[in-house]
Amino acid sequence: METKILDKSAKLLIGDKELDLLSTTGTEGETSIDITKLRDKTGVITMDSGYGNTGSCFSAITFIDGEKGILLYRGYPIEVLAENSNFVEVSYLLIYGHLPSKKELEKFQYDLTHHTLIHEDMKKFFEGFPPSAHPMGILSAMVSSLSAYYPDAYNPENYDLNIIRLLAKLKTIAAFSYKKSVGQPFIYPRNDLRFSADMIHMMFAVPSEEYEVPKVLEDALDLLLILHADHEQNCSTSTVRMVGSSNANLFATISAGICALWGPLHGGANQEVIEMLEHIKKDGGNYKKYINFAKDKESNFKLMGFGHRVYKNFDPRAQILKGSADKVLNLLGINDPLLEIAKNLEEAALKDPYFIEKKLYPNVDFYSGIIYRAMGIPTNMFTVMFALGRLPGWLAQWKEMKETPGIRISRPRQIYTGAAKREYTPINKR
Ligand code: ACO
Repeated sequence: METKILDKSAKLLIGDKELDLLSTTGTEGETSIDITKLRDKTGVITMDSGYGNTGSCFSAITFIDGEKGILLYRGYPIEVLAENSNFVEVSYLLIYGHLPSKKELEKFQYDLTHHTLIHEDMKKFFEGFPPSAHPMGILSAMVSSLSAYYPDAYNPENYDLNIIRLLAKLKTIAAFSYKKSVGQPFIYPRNDLRFSADMIHMMFAVPSEEYEVPKVLEDALDLLLILHADHEQNCSTSTVRMVGSSNANLFATISAGICALWGPLHGGANQEVIEMLEHIKKDGGNYKKYINFAKDKESNFKLMGFGHRVYKNFDPRAQILKGSADKVLNLLGINDPLLEIAKNLEEAALKDPYFIEKKLYPNVDFYSGIIYRAMGIPTNMFTVMFALGRLPGWLAQWKEMKETPGIRISRPRQIYTGAAKREYTPINKR
């Protein structure tokens, strides 16, 4: 793990108590103050609702500079990886910390294509879900169920094998959950196809017809997966680290991450963006009305796909996707009125003092839904595609945590504001 950490001291004054705290600076200059002993020494805890100012780990995986719109995976800019790499190589990079050699990449690719099958019994699980089941619910249940088939997941010697298993199988489970939702027979994975091509094939092929994966779909999916692959300590990744810190097995841990991602304020936003754009279209396309709603606190309406906890200037992933959305729609010959509404919304919001003042910019989810839609992927599958992309990031973060000596179970504190100790008066004596 490459780290350049400069240690210096910081002083904290609480009343008349002065405390020396260790301050640490990472490779890109961000500095932390270690308060792990604060309560022991002073009886005081820190309060940081939503953890916006709390560092929970040292990590060498992903760096974000939200003010400058910089995103690096293991030091490589996202723009460079999006242009030149592919999802399998990026997954290797995130999980193992360096770009693979040709031999390492071939082995990784081979492993990922030879662990794609799920136990035949697991197909029966899909039958138990109603047709209306959200594919994210199916995905998390299936991933958690994998622990029943791989009880060896607790053993550190098997960590790498189970990482491969999960990366290979999530694609199959995701595609099967889609086939379940449209009532079509499952299409089995093919070992001769690259990762993204195989996903497209399992979703769109039907047993009665020959199906050749369109290159434009394979490339579009690969780009989307790369852009979603990691984003440091966001809600789902922190969930993975938190659940993993209790030594829950890998499958249960990732299943929890999938559930966290599902929420509309996180990965579920890509589905919400399309639903919002459809709603605006049905309402006559009057996007300005919705900008006004978003500014009105009483309305409780948020412009989905806008705003980010970390990016306060632009989201580099959204910039890449904006260009890509035009390209993919052109190549597919699709003229989607929702793209027009999205562009108008973006233009109007970026000029509006409310959005400028609050530093609200389109995030990755603003354009990803338009591309998924053009690819023929149904709206309720968007967050599943996000989960597939985010998996290498979760795995890398989990592996890093497991390999860090002295990691403790995650356990925040609170300030209690309920009733003080009081007498219990029984109504009926037993
Ligand atoms: N539309 C209108 N107002 C907004 C929006 C929005 N999309 N986002 C934030 N604001 C306002 C808030 O109301 C708040 O106003 P206030 O200061 O007057 O109270 C201010 O901007 C700051 O917003 P917070 O919610 O405090 O910011 P936070 O960092 O907690 O939340 C979040 C970030 C969840 C992304 C938020 O911007 C949001 O809900 N966006 C819409 C959902 C979305 O697109 N989520 C996807 C995020 S990307 C991802 O997870 C992959």
